[in-house]
Amino acid sequence: MIKRWRFTLACAVLLGSCPALAQPLYKDPAQPVEKRVADLLARMTLEEKLGQMTQVAVSKLMSDGWGLGPLKGELLERYLVQRGIGSVLSGGGMGPVPNTPRAWAEMTNAIQRAAVEKGRLGIPLLYGVDAVHGHNNVVGATLYPHSLGLAATWNPALVEQVARRVGQELRATGTLWNFAPVADLGRDPRWGRFYETFGEDPLLAGSLVAATVRGLQAGRVAATLKHFTGYGQPLGGTDRSPAFLAPRTLQEVWLPPFRAGLEAGALTVMANSGSLNGVPVHASRYLLTDVLRGQMGFKGVVISDWNDIDKLVGDHKAAAGFADAVAMSINAGVDVYMVPMEVERYLQTLKELVEAGRISRARVDEAAGRVLWLKFQLGLFERPYVEAAEAEKVVEAQRPLAKQAALESVTLLENAAFTLPLTNVKTLLVTGPAATDKTMQMGGWSIDWQGKEGAKAPGATVLEGLQKGAPQGVKVAYADPKDARALAAAVRASDAVVVALGEKPYAENEGNNLTGELPAEQYKLLRDLKALGKPVVLVLLAGRPLAFPDDAWLVPKAILMAYLPGSEAGSALADVLFGRHNPSGRLPFTWPKLFGQVPFTYDRYPDIYPKAEPLYPFGYGLSYTDFTYRLQAARATANAVEVDVEVRNTGKRAGSDVVQLYTRFPPLGLLAPRERLVAFTKVNLEPGQTRTLKLTAPLDRFALVPGDVFSLELPRVLPGRYVLRVGEQTVGVEVR
Ligand code: NOJ
Repeated sequence: MIKRWRFTLACAVLLGSCPALAQPLYKDPAQPVEKRVADLLARMTLEEKLGQMTQVAVSKLMSDGWGLGPLKGELLERYLVQRGIGSVLSGGGMGPVPNTPRAWAEMTNAIQRAAVEKGRLGIPLLYGVDAVHGHNNVVGATLYPHSLGLAATWNPALVEQVARRVGQELRATGTLWNFAPVADLGRDPRWGRFYETFGEDPLLAGSLVAATVRGLQAGRVAATLKHFTGYGQPLGGTDRSPAFLAPRTLQEVWLPPFRAGLEAGALTVMANSGSLNGVPVHASRYLLTDVLRGQMGFKGVVISDWNDIDKLVGDHKAAAGFADAVAMSINAGVDVYMVPMEVERYLQTLKELVEAGRISRARVDEAAGRVLWLKFQLGLFERPYVEAAEAEKVVEAQRPLAKQAALESVTLLENAAFTLPLTNVKTLLVTGPAATDKTMQMGGWSIDWQGKEGAKAPGATVLEGLQKGAPQGVKVAYADPKDARALAAAVRASDAVVVALGEKPYAENEGNNLTGELPAEQYKLLRDLKALGKPVVLVLLAGRPLAFPDDAWLVPKAILMAYLPGSEAGSALADVLFGRHNPSGRLPFTWPKLFGQVPFTYDRYPDIYPKAEPLYPFGYGLSYTDFTYRLQAARATANAVEVDVEVRNTGKRAGSDVVQLYTRFPPLGLLAPRERLVAFTKVNLEPGQTRTLKLTAPLDRFALVPGDVFSLELPRVLPGRYVLRVGEQTVGVEVR
């Protein structure tokens, strides 16, 4: 009796060391994450570990298939409790019915409750979504411009702010794993995912990828750099066709945006569905382990893309059967398989492969351990649930920030005879399919995958925005573009016409466009307007540069590229057209003159027969004011080149400019890109104001792989005399 009393007393005093009473170490937030992972792993069965390596689609918990509806208790029990599946995702368009912020929070709470309260070890679940331009699966959430538009802002601080807000919305609904940002480059506008990228340049894209990672993860939401790597250069321009990239191009162009994201602390990476240099990336140990972890130092979780281990068999024809494919992929470095349907087959196969020694137990511990590490990093063990009422409040209209992002993205391409801003117009006619179709301003990944439900997102159309935002005394009329007679009459009664053209929404493979053309009736509309003789302003809502027949292109006096601006398209365009905002967007891609020039980037290597110039170069964009530059001095320090440049607003309006510093490579017997962006900064100047800016370009932007162009070494700085350019001004600098 006395003995037992003493034992209890000792336990009470030394709480942590008493096995019967203490909470397990992994549940103690004061312990280092590595120790918590090791402790938890040691308590887990093989099956439980394999569960952490598996991600299932949420519809599986609703209907055991693709159907959406209420979660079913027996399916939660089967998949989350018995099979111990570690994460769930909403593919584009999957969510609760009805789709409201509160229902999202209640859904993730219910899923979490099954995992935490019924699971043997109470391991919380991780819920993943593609929030690529706002919390875009949720009805009620404001949609921001797609990444291509954000890239046109050249404003990492703004992009970080947007990501921070999106992160708050994600956390409020219990969706803590975001499959964003896209760190692939957009170097082929035929590709259906061009608009999901931050454009063609590794420095610009890398800065914005890093900003997105910082913003999302500030709210403890995991960012995913996707799709590692080479996905943005599909041969022939169609989604998921093979990519072939020279090792040097991989190191100089494709890896830097991923490196920037990793340096910003990205917790997860998604593999590219396609193949690179003849090897499917999901089976490439070289890319997923040697390069990503060995060379780039990544410590987090690698997730597959949707059903992509299966694609190693039927599509890539790289594996004889599913078991071979699983062994290949897990041993190459995939930690979590986004299955999303056939989870039991996957778990069974994985188990058999481990038992047969084809996947080692150490590899399982490594992969499952990384998933647990991620969950600890996100604080899920301490805070698995969210407040459903809070979700309603957080996922409310984020309109002012979405408008700021849309405003800064709008890029003025043409402005003959100072047509814009529309200061002398009393009656403005608005027409064109993109003026009234909200799905066109939202693009893909808006409520559903292909964006067909995008009209349910909050926000005004272009027409509504212009009507609401017209200055006093300006009448905004509308004419249906399909009714030629009414259109002609309305044009005659107006002083100017705004015609909004663009693309219907699309995503992934369904968005490939090999000619870059709009439907023929849109060009016809432009030609018809020409015949009516009024000044035409063309507004483009599109996720890529477009091809235009010469005669159609020459119709408008002014052209605005608005990309896919999201909820605030109308209000932002009203401010630009009526002159309350001076456009400062700059193209994040090269706009080809002919689609036959594609792929066509500004940093291409020199040609023997010089190619035609593009229609608009990378970095291009006009303003309602003018800027001049004076490059003052360039200095090479130990690890950077610094340049002083004086920028002056010589016009009559305040405005922002993006000062872009390029380097031209010296002739060193080694082919080099004609130019490369090495630094940029955005500056706002009052009329007549001058500012001297210091631009700092890290020396690693001057890097080239020396000697053997097939070497897999990291790029090294090449000494020599470089010519730097800002606008038309150049200056030399010696890099030793
Ligand atoms: C496939 C897409 O390639 C990927 O970007 C996305 O994250 C997943 N589907 C999940 O929706």
